[in-house]
Amino acid sequence: MQRDDTMKKKVRNLFLAVLALLPASVLAGPSGEALSFTCAGCHGTDGSSVGPSMPAIAGMDPEVFVDAMKAYRNDQRNATIMNRIAKAYSDEQFKEMAWFFASQKLHLFPQAHDVALAERGFKLHEKHCEKCHENGGRPGDAGTLAGQWMPYLEYTMDDFLNGKRKWPRKMQRKVDAAIADEGQDALPALIHYYGSQQ
Ligand code: HEC
Ligand code: HEC
Repeated sequence: MQRDDTMKKKVRNLFLAVLALLPASVLAGPSGEALSFTCAGCHGTDGSSVGPSMPAIAGMDPEVFVDAMKAYRNDQRNATIMNRIAKAYSDEQFKEMAWFFASQKLHLFPQAHDVALAERGFKLHEKHCEKCHENGGRPGDAGTLAGQWMPYLEYTMDDFLNGKRKWPRKMQRKVDAAIADEGQDALPALIHYYGSQQ
């Protein structure tokens, strides 16, 4: 009995000594940064994608990020590829990646845009969108619009309008109001405004 206890103690101490030597990242599983290597081919190193249909995800709000990944995994959000990718990860891994990307600086690339259209878009944005998409749509708790790739914004607005992506609460009314103000040009104007930002 005595001997067993001593033995157990020794093993336990040895185990603790080994643990102390391991880097924290091994204990926590692969870090968000390591997990993000898989994403780099499309979203760019550190989440600033080179476009044009791959959205930039650097600086993305962690909650919006996790919600997006869950929606893809559950096939609740239209996707060409992300639904398949998201199925490979756990909630915990979504969180680790979310924190990694949130801490990366977003680098914006210049995009060709129509200046007059962008000016109309700015007015529509101020009136209908700024309340939730603050600072001209800079990364925040309603995602990233400022400087986001314009083709991606077009696809995703189309998805909202065609019921392939769930509207954030109250957003649909504001989009309808913008269209009532400006007609057919409302969405292109808004997208050119976001694309004009750097
Ligand atoms: C093969 C290219 C590809 C790879 C690899 C890829 N993505 Fe994506 N990602 C896309 C595309 C394209 C979209 C737009 C939705 C779609 O069409 O699937 C997207 C959309 C997203 C969005 C939504 C952004 C927003 O503004 O709402 C997030 C978040 C995201 N990806 C995270 C990731 C993460 C995390 C990884 C790595 C585990 C990853 N992606 C790997 C191509 C890719
Ligand atoms: C009441 C708040 C609210 C208003 C007003 C609003 N939005 Fe949003 N919007 C959100 C939230 C929250 C999201 C985050 C994504 C989600 O939950 O799916 C979002 C997401 C988006 C996205 C997708 C971003 C991405 O990364 O995929 C686009 C595009 C967008 N909004 C455009 C607009 C435009 C244009 C207007 C004005 C006409 C507007 N929104 C007004 C709350 C709002």
